[in-house]
Amino acid sequence: MGDVKTPSITEMRKRKFAHQIEVANEGGAVADSFFEKYSYNQSYEDVFQDAFNGNYLVDLIEAVWGAQPPYRLLDCGSANGLTLEQFDKLGVEAWGIENNAHIHSKTPEKWRERNLLGDVCKMPFEDEAFDFLYVTCLPHLSEEIIGQAIKELFRVCRVGVLLQGVTTDMTEEVIEDYELFKGLRTFWTCSEWSDAMVCAGFKLAVSDPVLLDEVWRIEQETDEDDWNWYPNKETMRYHFFSKPQIG
Ligand SMILES: C[S@@+](CC[C@H](N)C(=O)[O-])C[C@H]1O[C@@H](n2cnc3c(N)ncnc32)[C@H](O)[C@@H]1O
Repeated sequence: MGDVKTPSITEMRKRKFAHQIEVANEGGAVADSFFEKYSYNQSYEDVFQDAFNGNYLVDLIEAVWGAQPPYRLLDCGSANGLTLEQFDKLGVEAWGIENNAHIHSKTPEKWRERNLLGDVCKMPFEDEAFDFLYVTCLPHLSEEIIGQAIKELFRVCRVGVLLQGVTTDMTEEVIEDYELFKGLRTFWTCSEWSDAMVCAGFKLAVSDPVLLDEVWRIEQETDEDDWNWYPNKETMRYHFFSKPQIG
């Protein structure tokens, strides 16, 4: 018998959703077309209200770190800054950084000062400039620069990171329905992402089982779709990271 290797979940999912995966340009920003057909063949602006839920993120931050607005938050991969307005309504001072010039140029006048055109790998912010980071951009970067990007997240973060990018072990239904593999360059499971964060110095923020129950409750109550985004409660651990406090 030959050596038959069982394919990893990442390999299986990449095969299953190969039709979603475009040949990415070498490095650089995601293609402009990514935003025109963001989900269900609709543009980012058209699906934004349904796809983004600021209350959910603020509730998670309160559950995990006990923090309530006002605080300073950076949306890493902020597109045209629509998230900034939603966060503002909840009392959060949100800033954004986005490297696709096309979507960034659509930032409403009111948010131009806070939604910056730039790369998450080299950010024009001081050390620990933000209490929290909301991070969706990492899987859009090529694997060779993920370490550099996470190092930069570590530098500008004061308290913690909500890691919300696409992982290969999200439920199949959600990858299929929202075409989540579009525009991705790095295909990792959530525990692989977590390992990279821990290597850079972050610590898992959710270890207490009672807190994990609470995070899962928020997730379940917010989920208005028929299916879960995350396959089980355990995987929720890998989405919250604290910066160790010195002294
Ligand atoms: C999945 S979208 C999320 C948009 C927004 N944060 C939201 O929650 O609706 C990820 C964003 O990350 C941006 N992005 C990808 N690579 C980036 C990089 N190196 N630096 C900054 N933004 C990046 C993409 O252009 C895209 O706008």
